[in-house]
Amino acid sequence: MPKVVFIERNGNRKEVKAQANTTLLQVAHAHGIDMEGACEGSMACSTCHVIVADEWIKKLPPVHATEEDMLDLTYGVTRTSRLACQIAVTPALDGLTVRLPTATRNMMD
Ligand code: FES
Repeated sequence: MPKVVFIERNGNRKEVKAQANTTLLQVAHAHGIDMEGACEGSMACSTCHVIVADEWIKKLPPVHATEEDMLDLTYGVTRTSRLACQIAVTPALDGLTVRLPTATRNMMD
């Protein structure tokens, strides 16, 4: 099972094991990480925004146009921002490290 590291809003580092065939959002929910995911992966809310560690951003699949459009509207976006609901956690991503942004904005509100 691939390992994923979340850097929480308070700076805590939480290392968890991901189940096979899950998205990063599902992994966060399974381990009590404070990530909302209000639209449950339909790319409508941006509350699953994560900032990917520099060394990992190139290893992720490319950003889908719809994800990019949503990121354009996301609060506090950075050049390594992604939506956790769009990242499938595969064995190749063992050790993936992401940080939660200080705040998110639900685009559905
Ligand atoms: S859960 Fe809403 S955009 Fe990812």
